[in-house]
Amino acid sequence: MRRTVIAGNWKMHMTCAEAQAYTEAFRPLVADLPRDRQVLVAPPFTAIATVAAALQGTGVCIAAQNVHWEDKGAYTGMISAPMLLEHGVTHAIVGHSEPRKYYSETDEQINLRARSAQEHGLIPILCVGESLDQREARETERVIHRQVEQGLEGIDPLRLIVAYEPIWAIGTGKTCASIEANRICGLIRGWVGNPDVVVQYGGSVNEASIDELMAQSDIDGVLVGGASLNPKGFARIANYQVPVAAAA
Ligand code: PGA
Repeated sequence: MRRTVIAGNWKMHMTCAEAQAYTEAFRPLVADLPRDRQVLVAPPFTAIATVAAALQGTGVCIAAQNVHWEDKGAYTGMISAPMLLEHGVTHAIVGHSEPRKYYSETDEQINLRARSAQEHGLIPILCVGESLDQREARETERVIHRQVEQGLEGIDPLRLIVAYEPIWAIGTGKTCASIEANRICGLIRGWVGNPDVVVQYGGSVNEASIDELMAQSDIDGVLVGGASLNPKGFARIANYQVPVAAAA
């Protein structure tokens, strides 16, 4: 059985002082997590060292919100995989819709980022998802298939997470219906070609929607933005419970 992965993407939130206070509240709430799940937090780069130290011994791992494809060089403002490894980072989000939109990241660059992550032993979390226009034009499958194919070129499908994040559901409060999210996650798993790949859902996940999402057969975890900023709320998400009937 696949181990589920619950990840919190803090985006551009939390100073070190705020991150420290967060982890103090969060630690006891995830002390007895069931073994069937892995929890990750993705702080901004500046708070990674603080969070890594504060969560040591909890089993909660640290993800980076992005990673550059070169190890070093004249790339002002960027962070490389070796720099992340030094802080105990284990995962790196690549291809999130925000850098795709605001910094015009291409599938080719995203692929380079994922490759660099893997080459250094980090697990890339490749985000894919359609816009509202694309969904309404019935292009969802075609768009996501292309993102998966181009994003994963040359990538080992065994050391990877894919997150299905419909752009229209991110930060909007509109969660994708769990059955539809499950359908797309199943398609993604087929396209990746590894039946054991973890496929997450992301987009307005919160305490109210988590249990139903996690009861779906092809959803192996979630990538949570806004709702991960509250330690109590994110701990509730990490402690999701699948109703007995769904789990059977
Ligand atoms: P959200 O963000 O949970 O705030 O919608 C999700 C994401 O961007 O990964």
